[in-house]
This record gives sequence, structure tokens and C-alpha cells, in this order.
Amino acid sequence: MKRVVFIFLCFLMYADTGFSQEALIQNISSRNNLSLNGRWNYIVDPYENGFYDYRREAYDQSKSKTGGYYDDKRNVNKSELIEYDFDHSPTLKVPADWNSQEEKLSLYEGTVWYRKLFTAKPISGKRYVLYFAAANYEAHVYLNGKKLGMHKGGFTPFQFEVTNLLKAGENSVVVKVDNTRKKEEIPTNSTDWWNYGGLTRDVFLAELPETYIHDYKVQLAKGNQNLIEGYVQLNGAKKAQKVTVNIPELALKFSVATDENGYALIKTPVKKLSYWSPENPKLYEVQIASETDAVNDKIGFRTIVTSGKDILLNGKSIFLRGISMHDENPLISGRPRSEGDLRMLLTWAKELNCNFVRLAHYPHNEEMMRLADEMGLLVWAEVPVYWTIAWTNPDTYKNAQSQLGDLITRDKNRASVIIWSVGNETPLSDPRHKFMGNLVDHARSLDNTRLVAAALELHRDGNRVIVDDVLGEKLDLASFNEYAGWYWGGTPKEITKYFFDIKYQKPVVVTEFGGDALAGFHADADTRYSEEYQESLYQNQFKILGGIDGLRGMTPWILVDFRSPRRPHPIYQEFWNRKGLISETGKKKKAFFTLKDYYDSVSKTFNQTKASK
Ligand code: GCU
Repeated sequence: MKRVVFIFLCFLMYADTGFSQEALIQNISSRNNLSLNGRWNYIVDPYENGFYDYRREAYDQSKSKTGGYYDDKRNVNKSELIEYDFDHSPTLKVPADWNSQEEKLSLYEGTVWYRKLFTAKPISGKRYVLYFAAANYEAHVYLNGKKLGMHKGGFTPFQFEVTNLLKAGENSVVVKVDNTRKKEEIPTNSTDWWNYGGLTRDVFLAELPETYIHDYKVQLAKGNQNLIEGYVQLNGAKKAQKVTVNIPELALKFSVATDENGYALIKTPVKKLSYWSPENPKLYEVQIASETDAVNDKIGFRTIVTSGKDILLNGKSIFLRGISMHDENPLISGRPRSEGDLRMLLTWAKELNCNFVRLAHYPHNEEMMRLADEMGLLVWAEVPVYWTIAWTNPDTYKNAQSQLGDLITRDKNRASVIIWSVGNETPLSDPRHKFMGNLVDHARSLDNTRLVAAALELHRDGNRVIVDDVLGEKLDLASFNEYAGWYWGGTPKEITKYFFDIKYQKPVVVTEFGGDALAGFHADADTRYSEEYQESLYQNQFKILGGIDGLRGMTPWILVDFRSPRRPHPIYQEFWNRKGLISETGKKKKAFFTLKDYYDSVSKTFNQTKASK
């Protein structure tokens, strides 16, 4: 019953906050899809002239008004006044942000209209869903001039059923994408990353049976290495069906009967599993078949729990040798555009001898999680509840909750994902504790098998660095960002006087430390922005962090330099945040090798003791 309520609430929530779309379809990329990637015509519209008339009334909110660019009008009548023309407009690549494609759009914040013409051959009895893997930030979507709906959130997928609107032959899909930053949004109007706008991830038309497998979860029960638990959810008229789950390699095949809502619990014992881990990223072919549909997935099975100050992966205590990273390919200085971009970033992490990546500060591409499953990297996944959020605005909370729900819905079958993070470095206040505490509860209500965390606040009293952020009481980890040697504490060699006082008897994962270095700039270790300063900072950070009892991981900030409008220094930054261990040209700085050596030694010395039950 809970599941059905969730789907219904999901729909209501979107409806309530102006979203009109269905709950996400699990593993939709594996379906029979017509890709809409490629070149789209576009119109830059800073005054939203294609959306509002001159009295600022929205065209698509009125039956009589015409003039919205979504009509995609062609000039057929020589005396008709039309002041736009997609056919003769320039094009942008999709998937890709607009900033990195056009110099004039590099810092542009506002609306860009996208239009794609495509030919469809809809089959009677099939259903069609128009799917966007992400659009930053607010998207209004139209098909053949009809409004499908709107979505907010720059990093989570959304979709609209178009079965009754799709035409045999040519179709026109028009999307208004607006990346304007706003105080009450998620993220808010202040971040330390580039505000890449546009259709930044895949777009495609999915074809589905009349009653199809809408969602499923197939994972090990929390802390139980011998029990597979989950559910399957059908969508369509024929709700009560027999659904078979088959894992051929385990010779495990069982069936469930979906109820009048199309829902069935999955619960079955399992033996002789090869448990997924970074050292053994074992994935099984999982075949799910109803009477009217079938979908296959590659799923790893592992358990992740905490016990005292230990993080137990498959019952063994582990140390998370991690690195933080943005969803950005530095070589094009834009959002990743292909699996190749993502694989390059994760390969750099593997070269560091990482077993863990912190995908900051927002949901990365679904493909990233699938690659982490395949390559053997544990994942910290996060929603952009970042810095000074509008904590008391109910719509802001609903937005954060829907982005968290979409992230968990999308990635709940990925063995690599072990942590849901509800935010980063958020200033202490009662409204903040309530807002984020509710997000923690929401995460646990959707998925009780993973850890829930956030980058907590800290404060200093002399040389004592204190972590007693009240939010920590609700989290599984004591995680925090600390910038000794960069933002405070003097030069790297002076930070060894600091020590940490962590009020929680929980595993400690230091989610950020680091400092800028301009690759190729060499000087003594007291000279800011030199590679030697960054190297010395890492060396001395290891000394002070080594004093933390219960240190079970770290994700230094950050794998590679990334674009930020907050970093204008004309010599050392040029709108790049240079805390990367790798430069935007792919050059590894000295600190890269310092961290690699540290992880090499940790991987040999950390005692993966079979923690006491
Ligand atoms: C913060 C924040 C990062 C930011 C970093 C920095 O801790 O979490 O998003 O980029 O510090 O200042 O470089």
C-alpha cells in the first residue's frame, strides 16, 4: 500500500508544486528508445518574449492567446506576422550545456528555447514517454504545441507520457529552459560552481507496452547477506499479473503476484552470492518479466551498515579512500556529454587508488552510477541543499524532497551507491535542522538499506576543532568539511597544532579539505597557489586527520579543477576553482601523487577486521 501511496503522492507533489509528470520509470534507458540527442534549433530569450505577452501574461495559460514559441509556427502566409523562426535559427548540441558551446552564452542566465523535429511511427497499443535525463534549471515542455508540463531541478530526470499526442510522421518538441538562480530554489542563488544551463543530459522517446514494469527494487535487505528484498510496480490497465524474477547465474527464479494496484513485494532467500565490492564489482543479470512486459538490469548485491565507529561493507570494516568531484569535464569545461567523459573522470579516481567518490553537490548522471557499479567505486550521492537555502519556504522543501526522491528512485538498484547525502555546509538554525531532519526521514522512508549523511558544520575553540552539529544525531556518519591550511589556520606547516573533537560515536568521513594550486606554478611551500603549498597542505592534513579515532574515510576537495564564477583571480584562477589535484588540461599536480601514496599505504595497512557482530 505504501508504494502506491508514494506514487500517488509523487504525482500530487508535482501537481502541487507546478510539476506535472509521473513518477520516474526505473531503468528507462534499457527500453526501445528513439534518441532525440543531436542538434536542436535554439532561440535565446532573455525577456521570455516567447512565453509572456507584452502585459506579462503567459501565453500557455490562456486558450485565446497565441504567440508562444512552443507553437513552432512556420511562415506559410506572406502577410502573417511571426517574429521567430526555429527552422532558420542556430543549433545547440544536446546533451550539453549552452555555456560551453557559445562564447556569448558562457555566463548567460535566463531562458533558451530548444526545438527538435522528429519522425515517429507510433504503434497502436503501445505507450510513449518523452524522457529528459536532466535540464538545468526549470523546463517547460511542449509537444506539437501542446503543453506537457514543467519540471524544476537541474540534475534529476523527468518524463511525460505523450501516447495521445504523438503523431505518425513529423513531431515538434519545444522546451523552454531557464537557468536563472533564485533564492527559494534548490540550489539557492549562491553556489561555488558554474551555472551550466540547458538540456545537459540525454533526451529520448521511450516505447512501452500498454501495461509495463514501471518500477522495481532488487537489493539485499539491510545488513542481511542472504535475503533479497524489494518490490515491483506495474503501470497500466492489467494490474494484477504474475511477475517472474530470474537471476540465471544464481539459478534463482521466483514469481510474485501483483495486487489490484500493480504492486508486489519481493522477498526471497539467496545463497552463494559473490558480493559486490570495489575489489570485486560483481554484477548479475537480473531478468524481470510480467505477462505483458520484460526488463533486464545488471545489479550488484552487497550490504552496507555502520557498527560503532566502523563502516561495514559485506560485514567487513572499510576505509573510504575517496575524492570529491563535480559533474564537469574540464577539458571542454562543461557538463559531461558522453559515457567517455564520465569514464575519464572515474578512471582518474581509480588512478588515485580510490575506492570511493563523493559526487558533489547534486545528482550526477545515472550513467555515472552504472559505471561506478562496473568499475568498483563506492558512491556518495547528494542533493543540492547547499549553503543558504530558504529553510522556511514550504515550496523549497517540497522541491528538495522531490529531488531527493527522484535521486533515490533512480539509483536505488546501484550497488555502488552507499550514501544518500541531504546537503552540504548549511548554516545552523532551527529551520535548517527541521528542513534537513525531514529530508533524512524522507530518505530513510524510501530506502532503509543505505547510509544517510551530510557535510556538517564545525567550529573552533583555540586549536580544538569541534564537530557537534545537532544534525549529526540523525545521520549515520560524522562527516564534515574542514579547510585548515587554506581558509583558516595559517600555512600548511602551522596546522599541525589543531586537533578534532567529534561529539559523535560514529564513523568519521572528512568530506572536504584542500587548497588551490595553479598547475605548473612552483615555489616554496608557504607560497599560495603553488603546487608545493597544496602538496604540503595534504601532507599536514594527513597528520591532523590521523589523530581522529574513528576516521573511516575522506573525500578531499577535489579531483579536478572546475569552473566557478566565485574565482576571478586573473593570474591564479581565471574563473577556475583550482583545488583540483588535476588541472583543466589533465595535468596531475604534485598533491595528486601525495594523496595516491597515502591511499596506497592505507589500502595496505587499514585492518579490514571482521567487525564484531
Ligand atoms: C566548500 C564547498 C565547495 C567549495 C569549496 C571551496 O566547502 O563545499 O562546494 O567549492 O568549499 O571553497 O573550494
